[in-house]
Amino acid sequence: MPDNELIKIQISKVIPAQKWRVIRLLTKIQEFPSYIPCVKEATVIHKKHNIMRTKWRVQIEGVPISWIEEDTLALNEKVIYFHATEGDLAEFKGKWEFLDHPLGTEVKVEVFLKVGIPSVNEAVDANNYIKKLLSKNFEAILDAVERRLISIKYSSYKSGENEKIAGFGIIAHLYNFFHLEKCLKTLNPGLKMPSREFISQLYHVSPSFKLCDIDNFKSKTGAIASGSVILATFIPDMMEKDLFAVSSKIFKACKIAEKTGMGIVSLTGFTSIVPERIGQRIADEVDVPVTTGNAFTAAMVIDGVLKAARRLNLDMDKVNMAIIGGTGNIGSICARIMAKKVKQLTITARTRENLKKTGAELKKLKKAKIIATDDNQAAIKNADIVICCASSSASFLDISWFKTESIVCDLGYPKNVAYTSHRDDIFLFSGGLAKSPTPIVFPVDLGLPTANTLYGSFAESIILALEKRYEAFSPEQGQITPEKVEEIRILGKKHGFEVSDFYWDGELLKRS
Ligand SMILES: NC(=O)c1ccc[n+]([C@@H]2O[C@H](COP(=O)([O-])OP(=O)(O)OC[C@H]3O[C@@H](n4cnc5c(N)ncnc54)[C@H](OP(=O)(O)O)[C@@H]3O)[C@@H](O)[C@H]2O)c1
Repeated sequence: MPDNELIKIQISKVIPAQKWRVIRLLTKIQEFPSYIPCVKEATVIHKKHNIMRTKWRVQIEGVPISWIEEDTLALNEKVIYFHATEGDLAEFKGKWEFLDHPLGTEVKVEVFLKVGIPSVNEAVDANNYIKKLLSKNFEAILDAVERRLISIKYSSYKSGENEKIAGFGIIAHLYNFFHLEKCLKTLNPGLKMPSREFISQLYHVSPSFKLCDIDNFKSKTGAIASGSVILATFIPDMMEKDLFAVSSKIFKACKIAEKTGMGIVSLTGFTSIVPERIGQRIADEVDVPVTTGNAFTAAMVIDGVLKAARRLNLDMDKVNMAIIGGTGNIGSICARIMAKKVKQLTITARTRENLKKTGAELKKLKKAKIIATDDNQAAIKNADIVICCASSSASFLDISWFKTESIVCDLGYPKNVAYTSHRDDIFLFSGGLAKSPTPIVFPVDLGLPTANTLYGSFAESIILALEKRYEAFSPEQGQITPEKVEEIRILGKKHGFEVSDFYWDGELLKRS
């Protein structure tokens, strides 16, 4: 039957791998059922030279389709031809073509088919129905082949084979609706802002995407690393609607990083917090090594607080300190380090069980007097230094609560103290920020005061990439030790990262 009388399917996908790797995997059809769920059976019946006879049984949307086909591997043309010799379909033939592409290999699948069952009416057209199912089948095969090649790449790297992964990915998010509006206006200055409900819904359905590349980031040592910022398209407010949907955006953002073979990704801000709230670990779901950036953030918080204390001539031995969110990932490691430096340390959180547990661990250090409470205001009232590191989707600490002359380091993203708050009698600054050895101009305002300032969590993945240490340095769900904080602080210093000057709401503070 001539091709123009058959139903045609055309699918194409760029797979980030060399051509020979893609072809090799696609010809190992007997392995398909182990990693492509819709392929129930794929066996080689006979093979001679470049001709194979293969048997297939697939099941898509509950519909089983079986056939036997003959495949011709025309590898000099970089094409595999196939045609069914028996099976459920009257006609089924086509080709797989492998083309060079700047990002790897473009695989083009062209299929011609005919079902053979006459259509009862237009609404029940068997040809179109099977076309839809088989399109899904080929898409599923290409997606699974891509995933498998990425997994093989990372596992080969881990087992010391000559596989190359490199660079850093920063998984970022915007911090609230105003931030989203501001970014949209930057990208489209003439934008007439639609309603908040419309924008929110649109953002909710938008997939995560690569915001920008950071090429040739140069360390003080001369070492160079490149990477990208990938925007997970959520704001913390969206967590209330659907935590699983937000977590899936974070997972997909990591998958974007994997496609380019990045060495390490940093889960910044809420991108490490959201999966944890539903008991997920992104590291278990992806192949690219994942760090939270919390160790370097903690290092910058500690350095910033100690620097501020020196400026204000505070004797740390006599300091009464409060850590708001002191049971969290960053708060608890800051508490462990600070408990050895101050006179009294109060940690706060809403969950009493966690307060009890973290409080008991801190008491074992036998230095500062430890108080654990769920009363933020009481904790802040008499504190000389307050570290604010609660993961809250909106500011919640009242500026009037702080003691005159106190130091307040707020590393919340979004801030625990509203940016609109100002008091001349307290030293309030954004914590966890690092001075960067190379300026970076992002295409939108990510809440950083200068091109030479980075969030500690952004910087951590850059430092690890410069060191070629592709590992979960700061693992999800805590487990950061003071030794790790010190190690990454020293590595950061080696590459030219140090604690930032003091800023609040983008303004350099006089005492910097
Ligand atoms: N500057 C940077 O580079 C940087 C880097 C990473 C993260 N961050 C930001 O730092 C913050 C903390 O991150 P994380 O990873 O440590 O978060 P986390 O592990 O979720 O810890 C958050 C802590 O805040 C507490 N908390 C939440 N709401 C509270 C409230 N209303 N009052 C008192 N405590 C409250 C939590 O305990 P309960 O749930 O029991 O209340 C927990 O102790 C986030 O805002 C994050 O975006 C900044």
